[in-house]
Amino acid sequence: MTDGPHGLDRGLTNYGDRDFARYLRRSFARSMGISTRLLEKPVVGIAMTPSGFNNCHRGMDDLVEAVSRGVLAAGALPRPFPTVSLGEVFLNPTSMMYRNLMAMDTEEMIGAQPMDAVVLIGGCDKTVPAQLMGAASADLPAIQLVTGPMSTGRHRGQRLGACTDCRGFWAKYRAGTVDAEEIAEVEGRLSVTAGTCAVMGTASTMACIAEALGMSLPGTAAIPAVHSDRLVAAEETGRAAVRLIKTRIRPSRVITRHSVENAIRVLMAVSGSTNAIVHLTAIAGRLGIRIPYERFNAISDETPVLVDLKPVGEGYMEDFHAAGGMGALLRELRPLLHLDTVDVEGRTLAERLDEPEPWVDRAVIRPFSDPVSPQGGLIALGGSLAPDGAIFKRAAATPALFETEGRAVVFTGLEDLSARIDDPDLDVTADDILVLQNAGPHAAGMPEAGYLPIPKKLAKAGVKDMVRVSDARMSGTAFGAIVLHVSPEAAVGGPLAAVRDGDRLRLSVREKRIDLLVEPEEIARRLAAHTPPPVPARGYKALYRRSVTQAPEGCDFDFLAGPSPDHP
Ligand code: FES
Ligand code: MG
Repeated sequence: MTDGPHGLDRGLTNYGDRDFARYLRRSFARSMGISTRLLEKPVVGIAMTPSGFNNCHRGMDDLVEAVSRGVLAAGALPRPFPTVSLGEVFLNPTSMMYRNLMAMDTEEMIGAQPMDAVVLIGGCDKTVPAQLMGAASADLPAIQLVTGPMSTGRHRGQRLGACTDCRGFWAKYRAGTVDAEEIAEVEGRLSVTAGTCAVMGTASTMACIAEALGMSLPGTAAIPAVHSDRLVAAEETGRAAVRLIKTRIRPSRVITRHSVENAIRVLMAVSGSTNAIVHLTAIAGRLGIRIPYERFNAISDETPVLVDLKPVGEGYMEDFHAAGGMGALLRELRPLLHLDTVDVEGRTLAERLDEPEPWVDRAVIRPFSDPVSPQGGLIALGGSLAPDGAIFKRAAATPALFETEGRAVVFTGLEDLSARIDDPDLDVTADDILVLQNAGPHAAGMPEAGYLPIPKKLAKAGVKDMVRVSDARMSGTAFGAIVLHVSPEAAVGGPLAAVRDGDRLRLSVREKRIDLLVEPEEIARRLAAHTPPPVPARGYKALYRRSVTQAPEGCDFDFLAGPSPDHP
C-alpha cells in the first residue's frame, strides 16, 4: 500500500472534523451490510453502465458480479457505481453529443468517491472512449473491461450480424429486391444476443484499441459477450485491479505516444471504424499526446490490413476471437509495433508477445506476408475543401471511385437531406458527388449521417456506391466511398459551407485530397455571407456548443483536453 489514506479513508468529506467524517462514512457504509473487516480493505470502484436504453450492455449484471468476485478474491472491497450509459441507437440527436458528458461523469466520480483503483465496464460505441477519456484525466489506476461482441443470428441459412447486415438488407429493401415481409423477419434476427455490434464497427474497434493501448487484459477484446470466457476475463480483471493498487500503474503510464501509435497500427490492421480516430485523438489528447494526420497517414501507408471482418471483409467478431484474437494480430504486427509499452499488468508488449503463440486461423487473421490489403484501411485527406483534414475509409470504398471529379449535389442539413434525397425529381446522377453540410460537431453533434443514402431512384437502377462528402461521421459498420469529418465544419465557416449545387468537386485518394474546384476568391465571397447557427440558451447543449472542438482535436471539450493539473 502507498502512503496516504486509502480505501474508504480517501477523500474524506470535510466537515471540519476528520475523525467524525471517517466515523460517519463507516457508519453509512455499514448500513450497506458490509463487515468492518471488509471496510478496512482497499477499495476497487467498478464504473458500471447498465441501462434500459443500452442493449449492448445487457450482460452488465453478470460482469459486475464477476469483477466483484475477482476483487474480493484478491483481498479488496468492490464498489460498483453507475455512470451515464450511452446506447448508440437510443440517443437523439446523437450519442456523440453525450460522449463528453459521460467522460466528465466518469472522471469526476472516480475522483470524488473513495477508491484506490477502478474497473471501467463499457461496450457500446461511445462508452469505452468516454471511460478511457475520463480515466486518463482522473489518472487513478484503471483497467478497462468491455461487454464483448454479440454472436451472429441466422436468416434463411445466412449469418447475420449487427449492423453491417442491417445496412445491407435495408439497402436491398430500398432498392426493392427485399420485400416488407422479409425485412420484418430480418429485424428480429440481426441482434440476437447481449453485447456490442457483431462486426468490426466502432465498439469492437475501440475494444481492440483499449487492448492495444494496454488498458485491458491481454486477449480480452474480442471474447463474445455471452461466452463463459468473458466472465472469466471479468473475474481476472477484478484481480488485476487489486494488483494495480500495489503497482500504482496509472493510465498516464500506459497511454503514451508509443502505445497510441500501436493503437493506430491496430486500427489500420483491423480496418477499423473511422470513429475510432476521433475517439483515440480525444483519449490521447487528455494526456497531451497529439498525432498529426501526416503521421496517421504514414502509419496507414505502411500497415497492412490483416483481419478479414465485416464491414470490409467477411467474418464477424466471434470469428476473430476463435481465430486467435488480438494476441495473434499483435504478433503479426510485431515488426511495426513499439515493444516498450507497458500494459495494466506492468508487462511490456515485448514480454507479452514473447509468449508462445496459440493456434491461429489464417483465413481470418492473415500473416503479415499475405495481407488482406498491403495498406491500412483509413487515411486522412487534405485539400481546399478540408484545410484541417477529412477522413476516408479506403478499405470500405469502391476503388473505381478513388479518383473522381464530379458535380456537387448539395444538402444543407439533415432535414433537407431527408426531405429531398428520395425525391424522384432530384437532379442527380451516379457520377455526381453528394454533399451534406451542417452535420458537424457544432451544427448537429456530429451524427452518423455521413453515410448518405444512395438516392432511391439511383439505388433502384442498381447504383451501389457514390462519392459522398460531409462534416458528419458514419457508423463503423457502414461502407462506401465516403469522405467524413471535413474540417473545419460548415457551421463554423469551413469551405464546406461554400459548396453550391453544380460546383465541381474532386476526390483523389492517391493524392489524399478533397478539393472544391471553385476560385478561392469566390469561396471567400460565399463564406463572408455565412452566419453560424445560434448557440442554445441553456444547459448541457449550451456548454457543448461553447466548448466542443473539431474532429482533428477529437471533438473533446476545450477545457478537458490536456493533462489534468490535479492528478491524485
Ligand atoms: Fe452498441 Fe453497435 S449499437 S455497439
Ligand atoms: Mg456504431
